[in-house]
Amino acid sequence: MLLAVLLLLLPLPDSQSAHGHPLYMRLPPSTLQALSAQGTKALRAAQRSARWAVNLVAMEIQHRLHECRGCANHTTPCMAGPGRPRPQGPLLRDSPESGPCGERRPGPVNVTQAHGRIVGGSAAQPGAWPWLVRLQLGRQPVCGGVLVAASWVLTAAHCFAGAPNELLWTVTLAEGRRGQQAAEVPVNRILPHPKFDPRTFHNDLALVQLWTPVSPAGAARPVCLPQGPREPPAGTACAIAGWGALFEDGPEAEVVREARVPLLSADTCRRALGPGLRPSTMLCAGYLAGGIDSCQGDSGGPLTCSEPDPRPREVLYGITSWGDGCGEPGKPGVYTRVAVFKDWLQKQMNAAPSSREPSCRELLAWEPPEEPLAEAVPPCAFYAHLCPGPKGACAPLAHQQCLQCRRRCELRSLAHTLLELLRGAQGLFGPRPGMRRLAPALLETSGHTAREQRLHPDCPGLEPLWQKMATLQDTHAWILQVPLEHLAMDFQEVLADLSSKTITGLFRAWVRAGLGDQHVVFGGLVGLEPATLARSLPRLLVQALQAFRLAAQAKAEPRGARIGARRGWGLGGMGHHALSLQVPPARQP
Ligand code: ARG
Repeated sequence: MLLAVLLLLLPLPDSQSAHGHPLYMRLPPSTLQALSAQGTKALRAAQRSARWAVNLVAMEIQHRLHECRGCANHTTPCMAGPGRPRPQGPLLRDSPESGPCGERRPGPVNVTQAHGRIVGGSAAQPGAWPWLVRLQLGRQPVCGGVLVAASWVLTAAHCFAGAPNELLWTVTLAEGRRGQQAAEVPVNRILPHPKFDPRTFHNDLALVQLWTPVSPAGAARPVCLPQGPREPPAGTACAIAGWGALFEDGPEAEVVREARVPLLSADTCRRALGPGLRPSTMLCAGYLAGGIDSCQGDSGGPLTCSEPDPRPREVLYGITSWGDGCGEPGKPGVYTRVAVFKDWLQKQMNAAPSSREPSCRELLAWEPPEEPLAEAVPPCAFYAHLCPGPKGACAPLAHQQCLQCRRRCELRSLAHTLLELLRGAQGLFGPRPGMRRLAPALLETSGHTAREQRLHPDCPGLEPLWQKMATLQDTHAWILQVPLEHLAMDFQEVLADLSSKTITGLFRAWVRAGLGDQHVVFGGLVGLEPATLARSLPRLLVQALQAFRLAAQAKAEPRGARIGARRGWGLGGMGHHALSLQVPPARQP
């Protein structure tokens, strides 16, 4: 849209003619400049995505090493036993009941009673709330969340309004007691409550499945879920915590803040908040005098109450959901009642992996075999369930379906990247500080990691991860190696063949572009009027990226040494020297 407006202001292309008939038309320098600027953004986004992909595997390796160390010396419970593949393995037995929960570390705990400031709370000790997590969309913290099992976070469904794409979300786990760095984990799946109503905030609950379970060696610990539908009586002082605003429309807190608030009876809540409060799924807590409350940014975070038996533990009774202002007199905060959703929660968390449709992240991590296997295996097993025929007959269909969905996920992530770029939303793809801190350490110590493998011959799953890392680095080497200051795309010429108008109103064109000392020429389709031009540019950008990748790879590997064609959206081998008008089939995002 932005680009279309920009292009309306641009001069018309310049044409070349033979005997008065134009043959070719060149896009004017100003359009090339606009295209180059977008191309540079795309390159930067591609470099960040490449780093991101490498970082994810780096985290998995580190995570696996943690697990193996834990298993080998039996100092901590072993969450992912030997031979358990990830992510299916841990998810199968990722039951919230299977381990300790709700344990706060001994130490000075200082939950504000009725003064100071969430709104009116106080800064929590580092590591005081080991189940409190932070949900981020891109780099942006959006909501709180609560770790309820090794791979599951409970939060508010409204946090995902307008952004249901799990590929864009990460979860930052709790930091350690001495402020040790908090791990950032990608989100694998978002399961909003199917009856969540964004107008009324009825059933404002969502489960988030983490891509890797939390390491027992880390600081994060799950909270306890209520055992049954019973809740503590009105008047019980419970705790809220989060990074939310210090007052309505105020700044977010820089450290976790906490406060103690009493549960209020359904009648009090209804009287205070009117018909918007649905006591069947919402409870309210706070002071009618005002002053202490959760606020914007605290959503999805915990309302926990201490229970003494059978041992002192914190139980999650509410998820921060909404309020009328923050800390206003007569307007207590509203929390989704966790206890009434116990069955739904158990069902989701205990579901067999093959009963869930694979997530985009799972599909993108899947390396499809050349031929479908005789029996559908994860992540494709889900699709075999949908096929009515005998098991064997379903496997090829499931495989096909899986491939199709995988392609859709590829498009989704690419389409999203481009869309955001065109909207100028660079922020989403900016560097993630937490991840950056982790990755170089691992990348620089690749030798060290290989040694770790030798030191851990009994650490299954490490070798494939290490191979995955090598492949990723190889695939992305072309862009990872370009220093940021040279990461600029230069569209030098787009020459449209005026005799080649397609039914979609686009013209075949030669495109010449440069990136540092690398130059590529490739064929594409371009529109010559503002609307068609704007429509054609994103694809030219994608093609240019692909062309640079192929050219860099061809340069790095001797010609003919590459085994077969790489999967993906190759441009039929168009590189530095190839000049062809071959255009990949149109794909609508
Ligand atoms: N909806 C807010 C959020 O998204 C939480 C508001 C809580 N408000 C309150 N007064 N307790 O973060």
